[in-house]
Amino acid sequence: MGVPEIILITLSLFLAWFFYPLLFGAIWQPAPKSIVRKILLMAEVSPSDTLYDLGSGDGRIVIIASKEFGASAIGVEIDPLLVAFSRMRIKKHVLKGKARIIHGNLFKTDISNATIVTVFLRQSVNNMLREKFRAELKKGTRIVSYVHRFEGWNPIKSDEESQIFLYSI
Ligand SMILES: C[S@@+](CC[C@H](N)C(=O)[O-])C[C@H]1O[C@@H](n2cnc3c(N)ncnc32)[C@H](O)[C@@H]1O
Repeated sequence: MGVPEIILITLSLFLAWFFYPLLFGAIWQPAPKSIVRKILLMAEVSPSDTLYDLGSGDGRIVIIASKEFGASAIGVEIDPLLVAFSRMRIKKHVLKGKARIIHGNLFKTDISNATIVTVFLRQSVNNMLREKFRAELKKGTRIVSYVHRFEGWNPIKSDEESQIFLYSI
């Protein structure tokens, strides 16, 4: 096998990995850490909270929510590489017991014990999630979405400049 073939195979594998999550919702694009802190401050995350980040990427929301805000935080991620990477990061930050990552599809994961849900997905995915949230979440559960809104729902707080929208069920 020549060098061009190796480059082509590597490129194809990378593209397949990168776009695979799009089949289920959204590709990986990490939220800036300054935005993550704004999201968690807006939701008033505290040690009594159980936070789910749906589509948790490299686990940054889960890690910051548990390390800096004391919450129990759970990430749900479809991409096995990101699951392995975020679990390694949780271990490194010694957050065992306070933070964990579920490998699975966010639409099929039970989130009924959440007090806060964070999402950074796509508009069409947010639209589909409304039904799951209505059916599963307890009254008063806070939902924070970065970039995309929940169409037809009124946010109780928003930061238009940072594109952060807070809702309550
Ligand atoms: C835009 S990234 C956001 C990552 C992280 N929440 C953050 O704010 O940095 C979206 C993530 O959702 C994951 N994802 C997409 N569809 C999913 C699904 N149906 N179930 C679980 N994870 C999904 C992608 O793999 C990707 O890591």
